[in-house]
Amino acid sequence: DLYGPSRRNSLGMDLSIADTRQVLETAVAALDGQLLDAGPIVSGRMAPPARPEERVSPADLARVVGRAWSSTPEQVDAAYVAARHAQPRWDARGGEGRAQVLRAMADTLEANRERLIAICAVEAGKTLADGVAEVREAADFCRYYASLAERQFAAPETLRGPVGETNRLSLHGRGVFACISPWNFPLAIFTGQIAAALAAGNAVVAKPAEQTPLIAAEAVRLYHAAGLDPDLLHLLPGDGAGVGQQLVAHRDCAGVAFTGGTDTAWAINRTLAARNGPIVPFIAETGGLNAMFVDTTALREQVIDDVLTSAFGSAGQRCSALRMLFVPHDTADQLIEGLAGAMDTLVLGDPADPATDIGPVIDEDARGALQAHVERLRQEAKLWRQLPAPDGGCFFGPALAEIPSAAFLQKEVFGPILHVVRYDPNRLEAAAAPLRAAGYGLTLGVHSRIEAFAADVQRAVPAGNAYVNRSMIGAVVGVQPFGGEGLSGTGPKAGGPHALLRYAVERAVSVNI
Ligand code: NAD
Ligand code: ALA
Repeated sequence: DLYGPSRRNSLGMDLSIADTRQVLETAVAALDGQLLDAGPIVSGRMAPPARPEERVSPADLARVVGRAWSSTPEQVDAAYVAARHAQPRWDARGGEGRAQVLRAMADTLEANRERLIAICAVEAGKTLADGVAEVREAADFCRYYASLAERQFAAPETLRGPVGETNRLSLHGRGVFACISPWNFPLAIFTGQIAAALAAGNAVVAKPAEQTPLIAAEAVRLYHAAGLDPDLLHLLPGDGAGVGQQLVAHRDCAGVAFTGGTDTAWAINRTLAARNGPIVPFIAETGGLNAMFVDTTALREQVIDDVLTSAFGSAGQRCSALRMLFVPHDTADQLIEGLAGAMDTLVLGDPADPATDIGPVIDEDARGALQAHVERLRQEAKLWRQLPAPDGGCFFGPALAEIPSAAFLQKEVFGPILHVVRYDPNRLEAAAAPLRAAGYGLTLGVHSRIEAFAADVQRAVPAGNAYVNRSMIGAVVGVQPFGGEGLSGTGPKAGGPHALLRYAVERAVSVNI
């Protein structure tokens, strides 16, 4: 039952409790001086280090967190061979059998949550609150897909047909899925893609982002510890153009689940198109050019609060984050002043400090790209405010800028930069036209007390996830199934009731008795 007691969302941790903060502080301290390793894990064994690279923390570039090394083509091959052989047994276990393992994984994640949150903080620069959310979401994906597997991959469905004939329809895994994930949800999305592919009866070869292999290696170990046959899940770290490309091009790849940038989705599409072999599904969840529309009936304090959360939470490094805020001419000055003032209350710094609101961005490249964008805003638009950033890590001060129209921004800028556009709510279509033309469709926000206006905005701007009078980040598994359209992705939505179907094949059997 998707909504019954057998499926509950994870409770997380309450950081307002001093003891909880203490437990996490201890977990972060325990990583001091410990070097984490991430190399290819094929059939449960990590390959010995080959040209390992040091991984440093984005929060402190002098701190070495661990070592990572890349997968060879032979390791990719070996992983596919083992996975291909193990997959039919897994498929034959049916939805119920697979659900048991996924639920055990959810429990294992929760049992190890302090360490996982600590690794998210040091490797990915995630604040403790974001780390708590990572573990919760990862566990939620496992439990939700377990329930879906039980419901959708149970006994074959008997269909109505002519007298004397039985017709049955069943769902099965496709074979070996390549799961390719980004760094910004290095545990939740990494674990969630794998959980979906496994739930549907597939084996998995998983490639984490280059920036976050350490937490991914930890997750793979936990899957195996939770009882998953190590031949069913292999970790293949490495770069996208090399290892990622090999995984997609491989003759045994039966499908690709990808989350990352739109440009990368195009590259994967090209690789798949060039393959001579089975035609396989490509599930892509990509970036967004996400807007929020405010009208004059909106409650100012609520708008300010929700805008700060949506634009600057997680250092703006969420695909769902707010990039463009449309404010009515009549209240624009008031709102911009309010936002600039409220930004001063944000605390930037060490992500492992519970007082921190905003940690670092992921690496020097990301910081450099954001700095270049702020220069463009300074020269071609109006930069209202940028907070100072601490030294020592890849910190980037959240920025508030005003742009002349939505046409100024054609592509996703992935970080804490909010672009404000003044507009006339009576000419909504005209203001939204450049957004539609850009072709993304991920998240959308509205702040208004007029229902008809909220509906007009949703008609004017297509988006997979619309949020009215609240923040537009933090979709909850099973509550806000998440995913976009157009340049933002193919669907099916992660954490939604249709999530598993694209991972599966349908087989119909007709028997004349
Ligand atoms: P990215 O596209 O650079 O990398 C994502 C993954 O793809 C990495 O593992 C990378 O190594 C791999 N990759 C790169 N080139 C490849 C290739 N040619 N073949 C196969 N794999 C390849 O994205 P990123 O910088 O890691 O993540 C940030 C992006 O992810 C943002 O655009 C963000 O909006 C998006 N994102 C989307 C969602 C969503 O649900 N829609 C969620 C999180 C992040
Ligand atoms: N699912 C993530 C969110 O909603 C990306 O913020």
